[in-house]
Amino acid sequence: STEVDPVSIGFSQCINQDIWRMSMNHEMTVEASLHPRVKLTIYNANRKVKKQIQDIEKMIQDKKDIIIVSPFESDSIVPVIEKAVLKGIPVIVVDRKVNTSNYTAHIGADNIEVGRIAAKHIVSLSKGKANVVEIKGNSSTSPGFERNLGFRQILDKYPGVKVVTMEAKRDELVLDDFLKILNNFPNINYIYAYNDEIAYQTWMVLKKRGLEKSIKIIGVDGLNGPNGGLQLVQEGILEATVLYPTGAAEAIKLALKIANKEIVPKNNKLNTILIDSLNANIMSNQFDRITIQQSDIEQQQKVIKSQEKKYVSQNNLLKLLTFL
Ligand code: FRU
Repeated sequence: STEVDPVSIGFSQCINQDIWRMSMNHEMTVEASLHPRVKLTIYNANRKVKKQIQDIEKMIQDKKDIIIVSPFESDSIVPVIEKAVLKGIPVIVVDRKVNTSNYTAHIGADNIEVGRIAAKHIVSLSKGKANVVEIKGNSSTSPGFERNLGFRQILDKYPGVKVVTMEAKRDELVLDDFLKILNNFPNINYIYAYNDEIAYQTWMVLKKRGLEKSIKIIGVDGLNGPNGGLQLVQEGILEATVLYPTGAAEAIKLALKIANKEIVPKNNKLNTILIDSLNANIMSNQFDRITIQQSDIEQQQKVIKSQEKKYVSQNNLLKLLTFL
């Protein structure tokens, strides 16, 4: 292929509805639209492992040039990824990890590091003495497993920090379990939630009970925009969040390099960082700039499209006139 040949990219997204996934899809669409060669199709699996496998099967059948996958689970997706690679289609895994090394490249932040950052923040705020509720994700997903692992690795060294763990279901707080913990443990100081949406759900419960000032909440994702984690930190609803970037734009850039037969690193690690009241404003200003640039680009593309249409119709008219 040459630098001008079209590149068909299929993206298998595992979850449809939350804001993190929507922002991932949006970032990917914007980045793809910057490269006229790229033909991007997004498939949504809506948390269904079978559907995600079918979607990738379809991409193999359609002979996509590159497949990007944000896998739901780490194990069930392995055979179809290996099948694609065997058929010669490069596969880029973004965000969650898969339990095989048979893919072309992975892009994402380190979830063990995410857990460690949250734990270190609690240790430093509490000087090593605290009662913590951890709301972990599902262990069959790599962030569910690793965000807990990193958190525990640090806190195991601090016997003064006691942790009670419960699990989120389908990325949501299980209210009954949470209420039981609140009732059984009167002196909770911190909540560490698997993601910002769950963190916010815990805040609403605490607020109802008048506990929102005495218990500090730490989430994960740090998304910019309405209801995102950054805003929750700015509003003082969350004590902190750990940034977990989507990697969507980077995935498209990597796909193009692969299409151009460039050699790319297999592991592409994205940075993560603690966001608290000290840096939330700076972070959100930076992100806002990017968002403004993105919408400028979208606006310009609309103008170009409508001018193209005008050009085509005027050109047709011209042809007609010369013909007459
Ligand atoms: C959204 C989400 C995020 C999380 C990501 C990890 O679906 O739960 O909150 O950071 O998935 O894969």
